[in-house]
Amino acid sequence: MCGIVGYVGAGGDGTALDVIMEGLARLEYRGYDSAGVALVSNGEIALQKKAGKLVNLREAIAANPMPPSGTAIGHTRWATHGGPTDHNAHPHLGGPDLRLALIHNGIIENFHALKSRLVDDGVVFTSETDTEVAAHLVAREYAASGDLTGAMLAAVAQLEGAFTLLAVHADAPGVVVGARRNSPLVVGLGTGENFLGSDVAAFIGHTREAMELGQDQIVTITPDSVTVIGFDGEPAEGRRFHVDWDAAAAEKGGYPNYMTKEIHDQPRAVADTLLGRTDAFGALVLDELRISEDALRAVDKIVFIACGTAAYAGMIAKYAIEHWTRIPCEVELAHEFRYRDPVIDAKTLVVSISQSGETMDTLMAVKHASDLGALTISICNTHGSTIPRESDAVLYTHAGPEIAVASTKAFLAQITATYILGLYLAQLRGGTYADEAQAVMKDMHEVPAKIQAVLDSMDRVREIARFMADTRAVLFLGRHVGYPVALEGALKLKELAYIHAEGFAAGELKHGPIALIEPGQPVFVIVPSPSSEHGLHAKVVSNIQEIRARGARTIVIAEEGDEDVVPFADEIVRVPATPPLLAPLVTVVPLQVFACELANAKGLDVDQPRNLAKSVTVE
Ligand code: AGP
Repeated sequence: MCGIVGYVGAGGDGTALDVIMEGLARLEYRGYDSAGVALVSNGEIALQKKAGKLVNLREAIAANPMPPSGTAIGHTRWATHGGPTDHNAHPHLGGPDLRLALIHNGIIENFHALKSRLVDDGVVFTSETDTEVAAHLVAREYAASGDLTGAMLAAVAQLEGAFTLLAVHADAPGVVVGARRNSPLVVGLGTGENFLGSDVAAFIGHTREAMELGQDQIVTITPDSVTVIGFDGEPAEGRRFHVDWDAAAAEKGGYPNYMTKEIHDQPRAVADTLLGRTDAFGALVLDELRISEDALRAVDKIVFIACGTAAYAGMIAKYAIEHWTRIPCEVELAHEFRYRDPVIDAKTLVVSISQSGETMDTLMAVKHASDLGALTISICNTHGSTIPRESDAVLYTHAGPEIAVASTKAFLAQITATYILGLYLAQLRGGTYADEAQAVMKDMHEVPAKIQAVLDSMDRVREIARFMADTRAVLFLGRHVGYPVALEGALKLKELAYIHAEGFAAGELKHGPIALIEPGQPVFVIVPSPSSEHGLHAKVVSNIQEIRARGARTIVIAEEGDEDVVPFADEIVRVPATPPLLAPLVTVVPLQVFACELANAKGLDVDQPRNLAKSVTVE
């Protein structure tokens, strides 16, 4: 969950520092409790690092200018080993003469044993981090060989765990060496300059040509060369790709913060995720999956694995995909699945859902599923990330870069992608819903406009949020696909406004939670479409009556034209009529806007909420 940037170029005029600081600014969402830069200049390592946000480092550099350089590495940190202090900030120096600098993303699981050996050998440590151990290991190997690539190769052979490492040495200007295992690293390919980053946002302002590194690979970049070897020392290849979004896409686009921008990106995110997945006749085409149709036809169980918001997308998918395909679907929190002994075999399709593609809990669950013989598909928003690489196939969402830590557009894109996958399976397997798949896809193509209509009518929701800025607890109720929407609405309020919030299945209310209802208690209710089957709509209307009778302040999300809710709603937030299974794509939007506006009203940082990181790459 740290941000990593590396640069080599001819620029002796301070280019390297500029590139690093720009890249760190774009990556700050990956973790932001400290930051640092190391440059190779005139046979020395110049180093500056500061606890706190990137602005602290910027101010330190302004006060103590760094020398011109063409070789640099930079890091923003989300602490795992050792608190967020100046000493624990990266880069860390290695060797008795501290002439090597190294940065790291991940966890070195055997660092205690390695550190003990190094201390016994007289090495003096200045931090509590696992990273400093790696710095001294690489420095020790460099002292023996004088070759930074070979030193990295020898050092990684001693490490266990998940890591991306970048290293520079004072005696090796114009060279940055990187290594990755279970953690992200991509190469930015320039002319007379090359880049390294945790993801393409690190260098998107300079090049859109990139190369993803595979597991257990080492890359050596110079201004004019990029060389890849495996941890076995043999030549290897990265996979080149073109980054299809530009620097502007990662900026705020005129919105006050990334969170607001990304909420308003949602119509585009859904539309782009639908793009290119149907043929001229409306039939689903998923050649990108590269899994045999026979293997997919043989699937007799689907298990979604994910964390947080992504898991709620899986819960929504369950309702739709079981309906369309008649394949039993389970939804598991990745960190629980990982330690269970699940009933999995070659006919089980395990679908991981992850925006970052780096969530360690989900990555380890995917590996567990693979070890058990399952077919694995990754639904992911980040090209070049680890989870897709560890899966049999990937279905990318096209939500564009999601910078705000709390997920919004990626969530809608995840729901969209799971629906595309479900409809594809229904089409492939024939049966009742195969011919209806095209009709549902047609309905899906109408959803972006409906999301836009909701976004254009949010003034009252913002007003309610500002009015409720001092609220201490909010409840959310929903049934069927509205239940995971209620869970997501509660999560958004927790992670953005730091308010206690809880989502319930509306039918569960009378089994206990209704005891929470007291006069004035705000309760959001996601009301199913009146066109829902099984009398769902009437049941939820009676739930609203039950809580209203006990004094709850009911804020009801209901379809235009639904008059049944009027007598029991203190506030009605209207959404366009939508086929019941597609309703989450519109009903969640007011809840996102509400949480964002309430957090704004409290003066909170909606892009980087406290204690959270965009990508949780530790278990
Ligand atoms: C979303 O608002 C949260 N920040 C969090 O629950 C997130 O969805 C979860 O950590 C999974 O992240 P991923 O999609 O990158 O795997």
